[in-house]
Amino acid sequence: MALTFWLFLALKVLGANSKLRQLFLKPASAQDCRTLQLGDSWISHSLIACQLECMNRYSENCQAVVYNSETGICRPGSTAFWHLQRVATSIPKTGSSDTLYYVRQPIPPCNTENNFAVYDVCGTSACIYLSTSNASGYIDGRARCSQMSSRLFVGNTIAKFSLFMYAVETDIRFGTYIGLQDFDVEGNFLWENGESLSLEQHQYVWSPGEPKSNNEIENCAIGYLGGSVNGFGLDDGNCNNRRRYICERCEQC
Ligand SMILES: *[C@@H]1O[C@H](CO)[C@@H](O)[C@H](O)[C@H]1NC(C)=O
Repeated sequence: MALTFWLFLALKVLGANSKLRQLFLKPASAQDCRTLQLGDSWISHSLIACQLECMNRYSENCQAVVYNSETGICRPGSTAFWHLQRVATSIPKTGSSDTLYYVRQPIPPCNTENNFAVYDVCGTSACIYLSTSNASGYIDGRARCSQMSSRLFVGNTIAKFSLFMYAVETDIRFGTYIGLQDFDVEGNFLWENGESLSLEQHQYVWSPGEPKSNNEIENCAIGYLGGSVNGFGLDDGNCNNRRRYICERCEQC
């Protein structure tokens, strides 16, 4: 009893819930992050030109480049938390003059009302609220995010998706609603910003064997790390189950 009290007091003293939530997350170290090559290489005359071209072609997905100052070969890359190891093998280096440079994405403005906090992992960041209570279903989760001037999290880049995996790392039992569903057309998954899940994203967001998409009930993507599913990633689950949910601030929501 006394111990519980002191623990409670200590947690109180440690401050706002948002800080608390981050304390429970293991900070990502450089070893937790992997790079992966996004596409074919090209020749650039300088490192800056290489980075600019990478950002031009891959926008937020460009998070790293491997540049060879002797040959000018530029390889575009992204970074991901290790749970995405299915796609996150290192950008291959071919010569001794190859060097990896990170292209850091800017940290977004974060209104921390309602316990939103910046999650900053492997060079990408977002302003996130990870619920501690359950929503009664996907639609309720969506409404709750909306009431806090946010939306269910959109993991539409490798880096953002891996940020989600990082945030839900400790959630191994019931799963967390992410902003991805196929209510309208079975198998046509849409992110909360209206984009559809691309073929490329299909290859890395799902746990092995998912989505089953075999009935009209399992229309909502939920993230687990471990638990009942046979691997790390999303599962398509029942939209009416009580689960946690994850919201992100965005410009127009
Ligand atoms: C959330 O719902 C699950 C059942 O889906 C339940 O077991 C769990 O205790 C609930 N968590 C909270 C915080 O209410």
